[in-house]
Amino acid sequence: MRIGAIELPNNLFVAPMAGVTDRPFRMLCRSLGAGYAVSEMVTSQRALWASLKTSRRADHAGEPAPIAVQIAGVDPAEMADAARYNVDRGAQVIDINMGCPAKKVCSKWAGSALMQDEPLALAIVEAVVAACAPLNVPVTLKMRTGWCAAERNAVRLARAAEGAGVAMLTVHGRTREQGYTGQAEYDTVAAVKAALRIPVVANGDIDSPEKAQGVLRATGADALMIGRAAMGRPWIFREIAYFLATGEHLPPPATHDVRRWLTAHLHDHYGLYGEHIGVRSARKHIGWAVRTLPGGAAFRDEMNLIDDTALQLRAVDGYFETLADRHERLPLPAAGAGNAANDHSTALAA
Ligand SMILES: Cc1cc2nc3c(=O)[nH]c(=O)nc-3n(C[C@H](O)[C@H](O)[C@H](O)COP(=O)(O)O)c2cc1C
Repeated sequence: MRIGAIELPNNLFVAPMAGVTDRPFRMLCRSLGAGYAVSEMVTSQRALWASLKTSRRADHAGEPAPIAVQIAGVDPAEMADAARYNVDRGAQVIDINMGCPAKKVCSKWAGSALMQDEPLALAIVEAVVAACAPLNVPVTLKMRTGWCAAERNAVRLARAAEGAGVAMLTVHGRTREQGYTGQAEYDTVAAVKAALRIPVVANGDIDSPEKAQGVLRATGADALMIGRAAMGRPWIFREIAYFLATGEHLPPPATHDVRRWLTAHLHDHYGLYGEHIGVRSARKHIGWAVRTLPGGAAFRDEMNLIDDTALQLRAVDGYFETLADRHERLPLPAAGAGNAANDHSTALAA
């Protein structure tokens, strides 16, 4: 699987998720089987680049190549500038966001709202490709199936983007109007794949090895992108990779391994955000990790009262140590218990 001249280790990608897929989480997913990870979106507005939030989003310290940065905005020249700025800071792939339905993006006509204005969408693609081509940096595009059910223009826009030099295209199988409701549909993704020569990535509602296999078969896509199902379950990438390769399921991870992964992730997280923000922003990751586990709900409530990273780390370590005494491997969720993939409201509020 390649993006331009860049060879990727596999075709299972972590989706960009603002407030979730920061550098520590991307590195965790990469270490557990994801072949590629895209940063949270970074605004194209120059005035915000120096802000703490944006500079944290542009932190790639220790991240394995290729470094992929997603940019969001509405102005072609500004987007081209943002691409060059991020390449200067280490980006090896630039991804354009035309997939995000978040209001604060759409009120400025960025994200998936751009799909409604094809000439502007294409002007942005052309400007970013023109900025990146001399730097030998491939440009990718992430979109939805369209603005609304009556306006599924993904195939038309995808063809135009390919013509403009985009190296890979990801399609989330929902319209902008759907937000995260309903089910992702894969027919439009299959139609995009059939219409293009560049690699196409299928995205939306992939939350198990069987689903991954089904989406690959239904769409003919070259790769899969997984977002919400990786929240609290970053080892899903290696579970899917193993199933696709062998037709067999990996056993659930050893509880001690999960403890080690989560505590290492927390250290990395605190390192990026510092004490005050770190202890608070780590709560969502801990909450997702324990969500379907015995005593998880009570532990999550307990977590919300802890304001100190050392205490938080000790509590998490203690929780998993106790769990490991009773369960050598992570217990499977009780029937009917959802996973974080069904809990995007929590994530979106984060
Ligand atoms: C909390 C959250 C934040 C997101 N932020 C972004 C973003 O910054 N850029 C983007 O292109 N998509 C964003 N998305 C959309 C995801 O990348 C993905 O397309 C969507 O969640 C569908 O995939 P899934 O069903 O595997 O989660 C976000 C989704 C969630 C849940």
